[in-house]
Amino acid sequence: MITIGVTGGIAAYKTIDVASTLKKLGHDIQIVMTKNATNFVSPLSFASIVKHPVISDMFLDDKNGEILHIELAKKSDLLLIAPATANFIGKLRAGIADDFLSTLVLACKKPIIIAPAMNSNMYSNTIVTENIAYLKSKGFIFIEPDVGLLACGDVGIGKLPSPETIVRLVVNTINSRKIKQDLIGKTYLITAGPTIEALDPMRYISNYSTGKMGYALSEMAQKRGANVILISGPTNLIAPAGVTKIDVKSAMDMYHAVLKYFDQSDVVIKSAAVADFRPKHFSDQKIKKGDDTFILELVKNPDILKTLGDTKKRQILVGFAAESTDLIANAQTKLKSKNLDLIVANNITNDGAGFGLTTNIVTIIDKNGNIDQIPKMSKDDLANIILDKTIAMSID
Ligand code: C5P
Repeated sequence: MITIGVTGGIAAYKTIDVASTLKKLGHDIQIVMTKNATNFVSPLSFASIVKHPVISDMFLDDKNGEILHIELAKKSDLLLIAPATANFIGKLRAGIADDFLSTLVLACKKPIIIAPAMNSNMYSNTIVTENIAYLKSKGFIFIEPDVGLLACGDVGIGKLPSPETIVRLVVNTINSRKIKQDLIGKTYLITAGPTIEALDPMRYISNYSTGKMGYALSEMAQKRGANVILISGPTNLIAPAGVTKIDVKSAMDMYHAVLKYFDQSDVVIKSAAVADFRPKHFSDQKIKKGDDTFILELVKNPDILKTLGDTKKRQILVGFAAESTDLIANAQTKLKSKNLDLIVANNITNDGAGFGLTTNIVTIIDKNGNIDQIPKMSKDDLANIILDKTIAMSID
């Protein structure tokens, strides 16, 4: 059974579609509404779709003498709260249980997905963002709201995502329950994609990284229960549902973003292909053709991973090494100089390895000197092997 909690926001009408689609997919659905939610949508609309009476009263008489919120928490495979208001999120963060839905959440040990929807100023208020960050660290799964025209007339972040997006995350989460949930309570900071280093308003220097490995790692870590922060350079990929994605462009942007989230992370996997250099000067105006030769001066970017290695306290650090010669020796040198726990080395000249492909062939080396040669496999399967090794290193 899936239980859907509806709180008092204008987007509550969209949840009818979510309930209807999940019902058509064969799920048994129970709707719980807060008192305020019943002002936006009639419980009868939901009840006629899911074929169960809606619960909105804390003190319902149960004919079997059961304590309903405890029973429902046990019966549910997943709890979805859509839309979730700022008020409801604040209550959860504080552990307040003063109505049926908030009591149910506290009693529920199954995956809980929260889809916030509110005015953009409310959503970006630090009180709300801190509440969300706290709840994520406790294992709650959040769906990022969409950007668009809001009910209040403002344009910004805060719209409830489409019913299809919500349904996809619910179904994936239920399916992933069959996957071992061994990363619950852990925060994984994963970087992906290339960085781009601007020369002028029209041009930049970059590399061929597509971000596939980092996105596969993010998706698998999320499915295994981790709270995932994905810091991504520009790619064409869609962020896996349930992952917090931070978009960056340059190596300097990535540096600041990674440092910002480092303290709250348990594991950092740096699969991004970070540019080693950036143009010394950014030209505000388009650079003219001019002479037959053009000399570009570059300056070094900070080595993000080395900075983390120099300052880390408890975090497990995983680096990538794309090499074309002396794979093992070069990777071992990087492992030591950047103070890493693991390094994933690939010879980019091998068929089936490297940028843009769905497969990879790597050698994983750990700080204890173990060298594991992994045969050619999909980036998804490889992601799971890398995640397994991060757990093994945490136990060491
Ligand atoms: O030294 P090299 O660039 O080969 O190391 C690759 C590893 O270091 C990758 O994990 C990459 O994400 C990270 N890196 C970094 N900051 C840089 C360059 C590389 O974090 N400026």
